[in-house]
Amino acid sequence: MPCVSRWLVACEKSGAVRRALRALGVEAWSCDLEDAQDGSPYHIKGDAREAAYRGGWDGMIAHPECKFLCASGLHWNGRPGYEWRAAETEKALRFALDLWEAPIGRVILENSRGKLGAAIQGYDHRFAVQPYQFGDDASKET
Ligand SMILES: C[S@@+](CC[C@H](N)C(=O)[O-])C[C@H]1O[C@@H](n2cnc3c(N)ncnc32)[C@H](O)[C@@H]1O
Repeated sequence: MPCVSRWLVACEKSGAVRRALRALGVEAWSCDLEDAQDGSPYHIKGDAREAAYRGGWDGMIAHPECKFLCASGLHWNGRPGYEWRAAETEKALRFALDLWEAPIGRVILENSRGKLGAAIQGYDHRFAVQPYQFGDDASKET
């Protein structure tokens, strides 16, 4: 009997990672508040925290929003007129940490450099990548 591992791709609507994992034989499910852009039946529309804490996953890769966590946005926090951003940053951090702390044996969090890496144990700079390494004319350490 083949041993198929079951992975959750949290905060993904494009299906890019889900499809790549499925091509490798992994039973992968994407999950997003929005519909799957490719109409896949292997998509859970809903809150990724609920899916993650439901159990039954061997691993999870999560792509939480980085808007309020990444260094390229954090510099706005505290500027006159942008005081509201601090609460959004805390909310975004709590969401990402809830995913990080989910009861799943293997968890990968993908996010741009900023608040999240400093907040979690196990952040490893060796896995940093840049858009320009993949043909895009942009730099944003991820
Ligand atoms: C930075 S985007 C990542 C997109 C992803 N790389 C893809 O290819 O679809 C963050 C995604 O998180 C989703 N999202 C935000 N809050 C969520 C939640 N509570 N549960 C699940 N998905 C959520 C958004 O709808 C958005 O698609």
